[in-house]
Amino acid sequence: MTHRNAATMPPELPRFPKDFLWGVATSAYQIEGALTEDGRGASIWDRFCQEPGRIARGDTAAIACGHYHRYREDVALMSDLGIGAYRFSIGWTRIQPNGRGAPNPKGMDFYSRLVDELLASGIRPMPTLYHWDLPQALQDAGGWRNRDTAKHFADFVQIMAEKLGDRVAYWVTHNETFEHSTLGYCVGAHAPGLMLLMDAFPVVHHLLLSHGMAVQALRASLPRSTQIGIAQSMAPARPASDRPEDHFAAGMLEVLHCRQHVDPLLLGRYPIELAAFGIDQSVILVGDLATIAQPLDFLGINYYNPHYVQATPPGSPLPLLLAEPPARYERTEMGWPIIPQGLTEGLLGLRERYGAMLPPVIITESGMALADALDANGRVHDPRRVRYLHDHLDSLREAMEGGVDVRGYFVWSLLDNFEWAEGYRPRFGLVHVDYPSQRRTVKTSYLWYRDLIAAQR
Ligand code: FCB
Repeated sequence: MTHRNAATMPPELPRFPKDFLWGVATSAYQIEGALTEDGRGASIWDRFCQEPGRIARGDTAAIACGHYHRYREDVALMSDLGIGAYRFSIGWTRIQPNGRGAPNPKGMDFYSRLVDELLASGIRPMPTLYHWDLPQALQDAGGWRNRDTAKHFADFVQIMAEKLGDRVAYWVTHNETFEHSTLGYCVGAHAPGLMLLMDAFPVVHHLLLSHGMAVQALRASLPRSTQIGIAQSMAPARPASDRPEDHFAAGMLEVLHCRQHVDPLLLGRYPIELAAFGIDQSVILVGDLATIAQPLDFLGINYYNPHYVQATPPGSPLPLLLAEPPARYERTEMGWPIIPQGLTEGLLGLRERYGAMLPPVIITESGMALADALDANGRVHDPRRVRYLHDHLDSLREAMEGGVDVRGYFVWSLLDNFEWAEGYRPRFGLVHVDYPSQRRTVKTSYLWYRDLIAAQR
């Protein structure tokens, strides 16, 4: 397979450490489909997709990439790619249709077969235990506003640890507690679609608490060598203008986004500024912060772009809003600016802030959306994604040379997939999916990544 045009290929990258983990990432709801099969229960995303106007063009994840049935074909694509690890997520409602009680054997069996298929191909499985698809039954009882949800999550984690623990060396508890709590519970752009605005702190706290409880459950039943972490998003906050209020708003977002969701994990405390922002933290009980601050083997970082921030007029429902990035930056199909340097800047910032408390970092997501399509020869040529990945790896190297201990890099995503409220239009895959036929076609970026991994061996 060669359809590379040498003229568009970026220069070779320097060597990464020998044992550097090269991978790709996906999540259950975005690729599996088969939402009503084998006893799976409804999640908040099933409900959200049914509500008119929530998802672009009324797309749903009913079929998605059909990965539930095509997982063998997808693992074969990963095997040819030569990756060392695959980050996927476990759909909680396949295991516990209502979020509690006895596990569903068919759901358990699916992930068990997936793990075996990966291991047989020499790929290390890295399951994420929660990638936003809360059982609807738990949402009906308050969802993450209800402290009991943390306990139910820990029970689910225990079930998975017992089922897969002998075969899985890397575990991720949560994916992006900031995006989930903000988009889902604060501004209502994602499931469950609530608009609690500045009153979503209980959601944040219970997510982080459940992370700590999940780490405890994993440690209690898994071998000591098991690597446990969480995937948090990192987006340096930049003021949209020189106005002092925008500088203040950027500082505020830095606290609400990065520090609120990482300080408790690594330092065992919330940023002191939260109180000054008027955030009611009365849901925190004695001992919670100690539970949250479990030692981690790695911190997963999902990086896409820095955020440009502007202040809102006094009396607005939210104190700040995201602003348009400066026109000088090229944008992806999501409208996100391409700023590889933000990765270096963010990682060096983490090191400066957390020092010795910062565990090794794994980049658990990095990638870009394009409007990829098959050309007349049936190929998908995406040199812009190749350049994107190259430049982000270059920035990653710079952070590593600056002293950040980075152990791996996972491209988001293996396949084009269901991009939440945006539906299927933005395509993030290294592999193109023709949804009507479910045909997979590797893109130029797949071939480039394959060659990179081979050259780094
Ligand atoms: C991240 C999500 C992932 C995907 C990418 C594009 O925030 O973790 O599921 O949607 O963005």
